[in-house]
Amino acid sequence: MQGTVAYLSYFSFGDNELGDDFLRFVLPHYSRAFAPGRLKGDLLIDVGSGPTVYQLLSACEAFREIVATDYTAQNRQELQKWLSKEPDAFDWSPVVKYVCELEGDRSKWAEKEEKLRRAVSRILECDVTRSRPLGSVSLPQADCLLSTLCLDAACKDLPSYQAALKHIATLLKPGGYLVLVDALRSSYYMIGQQKFSSLSLDQETVEAAVKGAGFAIQQLEIIPQSYSRAQAANDGLFYLVGQKLSQA
Ligand SMILES: C[S@@+](CC[C@H](N)C(=O)[O-])C[C@H]1O[C@@H](n2cnc3c(N)ncnc32)[C@H](O)[C@@H]1O
Repeated sequence: MQGTVAYLSYFSFGDNELGDDFLRFVLPHYSRAFAPGRLKGDLLIDVGSGPTVYQLLSACEAFREIVATDYTAQNRQELQKWLSKEPDAFDWSPVVKYVCELEGDRSKWAEKEEKLRRAVSRILECDVTRSRPLGSVSLPQADCLLSTLCLDAACKDLPSYQAALKHIATLLKPGGYLVLVDALRSSYYMIGQQKFSSLSLDQETVEAAVKGAGFAIQQLEIIPQSYSRAQAANDGLFYLVGQKLSQA
Protein backbone atom coordinates (compact mmCIF):
# COMPACT_ATOMS: atom_id res chain seq x y z
CA MET A 1 0.00 0.00 0.00
CA GLN A 2 2.99 2.28 0.57
CA GLY A 3 3.56 2.65 -3.19
CA THR A 4 -0.06 3.72 -3.69
CA VAL A 5 0.20 6.36 -0.97
CA ALA A 6 3.52 7.64 -2.38
CA TYR A 7 2.01 7.80 -5.88
CA LEU A 8 -0.99 9.75 -4.64
CA SER A 9 1.29 12.31 -3.01
CA TYR A 10 2.06 13.55 -6.55
CA PHE A 11 -1.55 14.67 -6.73
CA SER A 12 -1.80 16.67 -3.52
CA PHE A 13 -1.94 19.73 -5.82
CA GLY A 14 -0.07 22.81 -4.73
CA ASP A 15 3.07 21.23 -3.29
CA ASN A 16 4.46 18.75 -5.80
CA GLU A 17 6.16 20.11 -8.92
CA LEU A 18 5.79 16.97 -11.00
CA GLY A 19 2.16 16.37 -10.12
CA ASP A 20 1.14 20.04 -10.39
CA ASP A 21 2.76 20.51 -13.80
CA PHE A 22 1.20 17.33 -15.09
CA LEU A 23 -2.29 18.19 -13.83
CA ARG A 24 -2.06 21.70 -15.25
CA PHE A 25 -1.23 20.15 -18.63
CA VAL A 26 -3.71 17.33 -18.74
CA LEU A 27 -6.81 18.64 -16.96
CA PRO A 28 -7.47 21.55 -19.36
CA HIS A 29 -7.23 19.02 -22.21
CA TYR A 30 -9.79 16.75 -20.55
CA SER A 31 -12.02 19.70 -19.74
CA ARG A 32 -12.09 20.67 -23.44
CA ALA A 33 -12.38 17.07 -24.70
CA PHE A 34 -15.46 16.34 -22.59
CA ALA A 35 -17.06 19.80 -22.81
CA PRO A 36 -20.66 20.07 -24.11
CA GLY A 37 -20.75 19.28 -27.82
CA ARG A 38 -17.52 17.26 -27.75
CA LEU A 39 -16.90 13.61 -26.82
CA LYS A 40 -19.88 12.03 -25.06
CA GLY A 41 -21.87 8.80 -24.85
CA ASP A 42 -23.11 6.01 -22.64
CA LEU A 43 -19.95 4.24 -21.54
CA LEU A 44 -16.36 5.30 -20.97
CA ILE A 45 -13.75 2.74 -19.88
CA ASP A 46 -10.65 4.09 -18.15
CA VAL A 47 -7.76 1.69 -18.79
CA GLY A 48 -5.23 1.48 -15.95
CA SER A 49 -6.96 3.95 -13.65
CA GLY A 50 -4.45 3.43 -10.88
CA PRO A 51 -5.57 4.90 -7.54
CA THR A 52 -6.54 8.23 -9.17
CA VAL A 53 -9.77 9.95 -10.22
CA TYR A 54 -8.47 13.26 -11.63
CA GLN A 55 -8.72 11.85 -15.16
CA LEU A 56 -12.46 11.20 -14.75
CA LEU A 57 -13.56 14.56 -13.40
CA SER A 58 -14.54 16.09 -16.74
CA ALA A 59 -15.50 12.77 -18.35
CA CYS A 60 -18.27 12.21 -15.78
CA GLU A 61 -20.10 15.21 -17.26
CA ALA A 62 -20.18 13.57 -20.71
CA PHE A 63 -20.66 9.83 -20.10
CA ARG A 64 -23.58 8.17 -18.35
CA GLU A 65 -21.41 5.38 -17.00
CA ILE A 66 -17.70 5.02 -16.30
CA VAL A 67 -15.88 1.75 -15.70
CA ALA A 68 -12.54 2.15 -13.94
CA THR A 69 -9.93 -0.59 -14.26
CA ASP A 70 -6.51 -1.46 -12.94
CA TYR A 71 -3.98 -4.24 -12.77
CA THR A 72 -3.38 -4.13 -9.02
CA ALA A 73 -5.84 -4.91 -6.24
CA GLN A 74 -4.25 -2.15 -4.11
CA ASN A 75 -5.09 0.52 -6.64
CA ARG A 76 -8.59 -0.80 -7.12
CA GLN A 77 -9.11 -0.77 -3.35
CA GLU A 78 -7.81 2.79 -3.09
CA LEU A 79 -10.31 3.90 -5.75
CA GLN A 80 -13.10 2.09 -3.97
CA LYS A 81 -12.18 3.91 -0.75
CA TRP A 82 -12.74 7.25 -2.45
CA LEU A 83 -16.00 6.11 -4.05
CA SER A 84 -17.24 4.87 -0.66
CA LYS A 85 -16.09 8.08 1.09
CA GLU A 86 -13.98 6.16 3.57
CA PRO A 87 -12.33 8.49 6.10
CA ASP A 88 -8.78 7.63 5.02
CA ALA A 89 -9.49 7.99 1.29
CA PHE A 90 -7.27 10.43 -0.61
CA ASP A 91 -8.58 14.00 -0.63
CA TRP A 92 -9.11 14.93 -4.28
CA SER A 93 -10.99 18.14 -3.46
CA PRO A 94 -8.20 20.61 -4.45
CA VAL A 95 -8.04 18.94 -7.87
CA VAL A 96 -11.82 18.77 -8.16
CA LYS A 97 -12.05 22.51 -7.40
CA TYR A 98 -9.47 23.25 -10.09
CA VAL A 99 -11.44 21.22 -12.67
CA CYS A 100 -14.68 22.96 -11.69
CA GLU A 101 -12.90 26.30 -12.15
CA LEU A 102 -11.80 25.19 -15.62
CA GLU A 103 -15.41 24.26 -16.35
CA GLY A 104 -16.63 27.66 -15.18
CA ASP A 105 -17.86 27.25 -11.58
CA ARG A 106 -15.46 26.32 -8.78
CA SER A 107 -18.29 26.24 -6.26
CA LYS A 108 -19.75 23.08 -7.84
CA TRP A 109 -16.91 20.83 -6.63
CA ALA A 110 -18.91 18.81 -4.07
CA GLU A 111 -21.64 18.23 -6.65
CA LYS A 112 -19.03 17.00 -9.13
CA GLU A 113 -17.56 14.58 -6.60
CA GLU A 114 -21.03 13.09 -6.13
CA LYS A 115 -21.62 12.97 -9.86
CA LEU A 116 -18.39 11.05 -10.40
CA ARG A 117 -19.20 8.65 -7.57
CA ARG A 118 -22.56 7.92 -9.21
CA ALA A 119 -21.06 7.55 -12.68
CA VAL A 120 -18.40 4.95 -11.77
CA SER A 121 -20.39 1.75 -11.88
CA ARG A 122 -17.55 -0.76 -11.52
CA ILE A 123 -13.85 -1.09 -10.79
CA LEU A 124 -12.53 -4.04 -12.72
CA GLU A 125 -9.26 -5.94 -12.90
CA CYS A 126 -7.48 -5.27 -16.16
CA ASP A 127 -4.34 -6.51 -17.89
CA VAL A 128 -3.54 -4.82 -21.20
CA THR A 129 -1.03 -7.55 -22.06
CA ARG A 130 -3.90 -10.02 -22.44
CA SER A 131 -5.93 -10.23 -25.62
CA ARG A 132 -9.03 -9.83 -23.42
CA PRO A 133 -7.89 -7.15 -20.96
CA LEU A 134 -10.97 -7.54 -18.76
CA GLY A 135 -10.83 -11.34 -18.77
CA SER A 136 -14.23 -13.00 -18.78
CA VAL A 137 -16.13 -9.86 -17.76
CA SER A 138 -18.45 -8.89 -20.55
CA LEU A 139 -19.25 -5.24 -21.13
CA PRO A 140 -20.87 -3.45 -24.03
CA GLN A 141 -18.24 -1.89 -26.28
CA ALA A 142 -17.47 1.59 -24.97
CA ASP A 143 -18.04 4.93 -26.69
CA CYS A 144 -14.71 6.13 -25.36
CA LEU A 145 -11.53 4.67 -23.89
CA LEU A 146 -9.33 6.80 -21.71
CA SER A 147 -5.83 5.79 -20.67
CA THR A 148 -3.45 8.04 -18.78
CA LEU A 149 0.15 7.13 -17.93
CA CYS A 150 -0.63 3.41 -18.20
CA LEU A 151 0.75 1.86 -21.38
CA ASP A 152 4.35 3.09 -20.93
CA ALA A 153 4.27 1.52 -17.46
CA ALA A 154 2.52 -1.69 -18.49
CA CYS A 155 4.45 -2.60 -21.65
CA LYS A 156 8.01 -3.90 -21.59
CA ASP A 157 8.82 -3.34 -25.27
CA LEU A 158 7.39 -1.95 -28.51
CA PRO A 159 5.72 -5.21 -29.66
CA SER A 160 3.88 -5.45 -26.32
CA TYR A 161 2.86 -1.77 -26.62
CA GLN A 162 1.53 -2.38 -30.14
CA ALA A 163 -0.31 -5.48 -28.92
CA ALA A 164 -1.74 -3.67 -25.86
CA LEU A 165 -3.27 -1.00 -28.09
CA LYS A 166 -4.91 -3.72 -30.18
CA HIS A 167 -6.15 -5.46 -27.02
CA ILE A 168 -7.76 -2.35 -25.57
CA ALA A 169 -9.23 -1.43 -28.98
CA THR A 170 -11.47 -4.52 -28.65
CA LEU A 171 -13.22 -2.74 -25.74
CA LEU A 172 -14.25 0.16 -27.99
CA LYS A 173 -17.09 0.52 -30.51
CA PRO A 174 -16.14 1.13 -34.13
CA GLY A 175 -16.21 4.92 -34.49
CA GLY A 176 -15.49 5.32 -30.75
CA TYR A 177 -12.69 7.48 -29.38
CA LEU A 178 -9.43 6.70 -27.65
CA VAL A 179 -7.99 9.45 -25.45
CA LEU A 180 -4.40 8.59 -24.61
CA VAL A 181 -1.96 10.55 -22.47
CA ASP A 182 1.56 9.43 -21.64
CA ALA A 183 5.16 10.52 -21.35
CA LEU A 184 7.55 10.56 -24.29
CA ARG A 185 11.02 9.01 -24.14
CA SER A 186 10.51 8.11 -20.53
CA SER A 187 12.82 5.38 -19.26
CA TYR A 188 11.84 5.50 -15.59
CA TYR A 189 9.73 7.28 -13.00
CA MET A 190 9.97 7.37 -9.24
CA ILE A 191 7.27 6.60 -6.72
CA GLY A 192 8.69 7.61 -3.39
CA GLN A 193 12.13 5.97 -3.24
CA GLN A 194 11.16 3.24 -5.69
CA LYS A 195 12.20 3.38 -9.33
CA PHE A 196 9.80 2.01 -11.97
CA SER A 197 10.90 1.34 -15.50
CA SER A 198 8.94 2.84 -18.33
CA LEU A 199 8.87 2.12 -22.05
CA SER A 200 10.69 4.90 -23.86
CA LEU A 201 8.90 5.83 -27.10
CA ASP A 202 9.11 8.84 -29.37
CA GLN A 203 6.17 10.64 -30.97
CA GLU A 204 6.46 8.92 -34.36
CA THR A 205 6.50 5.46 -32.78
CA VAL A 206 3.40 6.23 -30.69
CA GLU A 207 1.57 7.54 -33.77
CA ALA A 208 2.48 4.48 -35.85
CA ALA A 209 1.41 2.11 -33.05
CA VAL A 210 -1.96 3.87 -32.64
CA LYS A 211 -2.60 3.78 -36.39
CA GLY A 212 -1.45 0.14 -36.50
CA ALA A 213 -4.09 -0.71 -33.89
CA GLY A 214 -6.82 0.59 -36.21
CA PHE A 215 -7.25 4.22 -35.19
CA ALA A 216 -7.27 7.43 -37.18
CA ILE A 217 -5.48 10.12 -35.23
CA GLN A 218 -7.74 13.15 -34.75
CA GLN A 219 -5.54 15.20 -32.46
CA LEU A 220 -2.00 14.98 -31.17
CA GLU A 221 -0.41 17.54 -28.93
CA ILE A 222 3.05 17.42 -27.49
CA ILE A 223 4.35 19.48 -24.65
CA PRO A 224 8.08 19.64 -24.22
CA GLN A 225 7.80 19.20 -20.47
CA SER A 226 10.54 17.29 -18.74
CA TYR A 227 10.82 16.62 -15.06
CA SER A 228 13.72 16.69 -12.69
CA ARG A 229 15.71 13.47 -13.10
CA ALA A 230 15.03 12.79 -9.41
CA GLN A 231 11.38 12.23 -10.36
CA ALA A 232 11.31 10.85 -13.90
CA ALA A 233 13.34 10.65 -17.08
CA ASN A 234 11.12 11.87 -19.87
CA ASP A 235 11.27 14.20 -22.82
CA GLY A 236 7.78 15.63 -23.11
CA LEU A 237 4.25 14.39 -22.82
CA PHE A 238 1.62 13.69 -25.45
CA TYR A 239 -2.14 14.02 -25.59
CA LEU A 240 -3.72 12.00 -28.38
CA VAL A 241 -7.28 11.49 -29.56
CA GLY A 242 -7.86 8.65 -32.00
CA GLN A 243 -11.03 7.33 -33.60
CA LYS A 244 -11.45 3.61 -34.10
CA LEU A 245 -11.91 2.86 -37.75
CA SER A 246 -15.01 0.90 -38.70
CA GLN A 247 -13.09 -1.97 -40.27
CA ALA A 248 -10.72 -2.32 -37.30
C1 LIG B 1 1.77 5.43 -13.55
S1 LIG B 1 0.31 4.58 -13.06
C2 LIG B 1 -0.98 5.56 -13.81
C3 LIG B 1 -2.24 5.52 -13.05
C4 LIG B 1 -3.33 6.52 -13.46
N1 LIG B 1 -3.89 6.21 -14.77
C5 LIG B 1 -2.83 7.94 -13.46
O1 LIG B 1 -3.03 8.62 -14.46
O2 LIG B 1 -2.28 8.40 -12.48
C6 LIG B 1 0.37 3.14 -14.13
C7 LIG B 1 -0.78 2.20 -13.90
O3 LIG B 1 -0.72 1.14 -14.85
C8 LIG B 1 -1.18 -0.03 -14.21
N2 LIG B 1 -0.70 -1.22 -14.94
C9 LIG B 1 0.53 -1.77 -14.89
N3 LIG B 1 0.56 -2.86 -15.67
C10 LIG B 1 -0.67 -2.98 -16.22
C11 LIG B 1 -1.27 -3.91 -17.10
N4 LIG B 1 -0.58 -4.95 -17.59
N5 LIG B 1 -2.55 -3.72 -17.46
C12 LIG B 1 -3.27 -2.66 -16.99
N6 LIG B 1 -2.75 -1.74 -16.15
C13 LIG B 1 -1.48 -1.91 -15.76
C14 LIG B 1 -0.60 0.08 -12.81
O4 LIG B 1 -1.24 -0.77 -11.88
C15 LIG B 1 -0.76 1.55 -12.52
O5 LIG B 1 -1.97 1.82 -11.88
